[in-house]
Amino acid sequence: MYGMGFDHSFGLWFIAQWLKPDLMIESGAFKGHSTWVLRQAMPDKPIVSLSPRHPEKYLKKGPAYVDENCTYFAGKEFMDFGNVDWGSVMKKHRIVDLSRVLIFFDDHQNELKRLKQALKAGFKHLVFEDNYDTGTGDHYSFRQICDQFYVRGGGHSCFKDSDEARIRSKRKKFWEKALDIEELCGPGEAWWGVRGQMRDDFNHSNKAISYTQHFQNSRFVESVLDVYWELPPVAGPSLTHQMRYDPARVSIPIVEDGRFGLFQRLGLSTLETSVFNGYTQMITGTLLRKHNTHFSYTCECRAVWKMSKRLEGSCFVSQLALFKKLANDVTETLTNGI
Ligand SMILES: C[S@@+](CC[C@H](N)C(=O)[O-])C[C@H]1O[C@@H](n2cnc3c(N)ncnc32)[C@H](O)[C@@H]1O
Repeated sequence: MYGMGFDHSFGLWFIAQWLKPDLMIESGAFKGHSTWVLRQAMPDKPIVSLSPRHPEKYLKKGPAYVDENCTYFAGKEFMDFGNVDWGSVMKKHRIVDLSRVLIFFDDHQNELKRLKQALKAGFKHLVFEDNYDTGTGDHYSFRQICDQFYVRGGGHSCFKDSDEARIRSKRKKFWEKALDIEELCGPGEAWWGVRGQMRDDFNHSNKAISYTQHFQNSRFVESVLDVYWELPPVAGPSLTHQMRYDPARVSIPIVEDGRFGLFQRLGLSTLETSVFNGYTQMITGTLLRKHNTHFSYTCECRAVWKMSKRLEGSCFVSQLALFKKLANDVTETLTNGI
C-alpha cells in the first residue's frame, strides 16, 4: 500500500493531535492511508474526505482503509474542494467555529489556488503534504511561492559560473532530488516555480508566470499567513540512509545526525530505510483573519491494512508507538519555537 512516508505520517498525526480539531477534512485520499493517520490522531472526531475514486474501490485489489466516521465525497459524489458548499457541510457537522477544523491537502493542486479557496470559506488551519522545493514537483507549492531573494536560502542564480551553480552540481552527485542550475532554470533564466511555470493538477495544467507575478504571489501569501511551519524530517540522513532529498534544503531533523543512540532508543532503526524517502517539506499554515503586513519564513512506509477495515500486523500499528515517543521531542520544539 502506497501513501505518505514516515516523516509526513508522523507530521500529520502530530499536527492533528496538537490542534485537536472538531472536524478534519482531507482532499486526496487515494487508498486511505492519510485518513487512517487522521483517525489515529483523533479517534472520535468526524472526517470529510474528498477524492475522485472512493478508497473502498481499492479494497477489491488489496489493502486500503475506509473509515466509518467519514463522509466521503468520492466516486459519483466527488466534488472538488473549491466547489463544496462548506457552509452546509459545517452546519451538518454542527461546526460553528471554523478554527476548530483542520484541512489536509494531498491532492497535488496549485497551493495558491487552495489557499484562496480555504480563505474564502473561512478556514484557518491548513496542512499541505507535498510542499515541493523550487524546480521540482507537479504543482505550485508554498515553498516555491515563498522562495524569494530576501529569505534564507531563497532566490536563485542561473549564472553558470556562480557559487550556487558550483554547489548545486556538487550536491547533485549525492542527493537524487537535488537540481543543478540547468535543471533549475528555464527560458529567460526563470528559476521560480518550476522553470518559471506555475503548475497545477498533477502538472496536467501549467502556466508560465513572470518574476513579478511570482513575487506578488508571495506578498499575498505573506499577507494572509500567520504561521508557516515546515514539519522537519524525523531523522538525519546519516541515520535514515535516505539519499533523495538534499538535507541542506530542509529544516533540522528532530533526531539530528550523530544521535544514533536516540534513533535506536526510539525504535526508528527497526524501520525499513525506504520509509524515509518521501519527505517533501510538509507544511502547516495558519491563516490570519485580517491581512498582515509582515511575514517570517521559518520557512513509503507501505502500511498493510486488512480488508476488514481493521488494522492488523501493519507496520503503522508499531509506528504509532514511535509517533508518541517522537511527539515529546517536537512538543518541546513547538513550545519553545513557533
Ligand atoms: C498522492 S494521492 C493521496 C495519498 C493519500 N493522502 C495517502 O496518504 O495515501 C493523491 C490523490 O488525490 C486525488 N485527487 C486528484 N484530483 C483531486 C482533486 N481535485 N481533489 C481531491 N483529490 C484529488 C487522486 O485521485 C489521488 O487519490
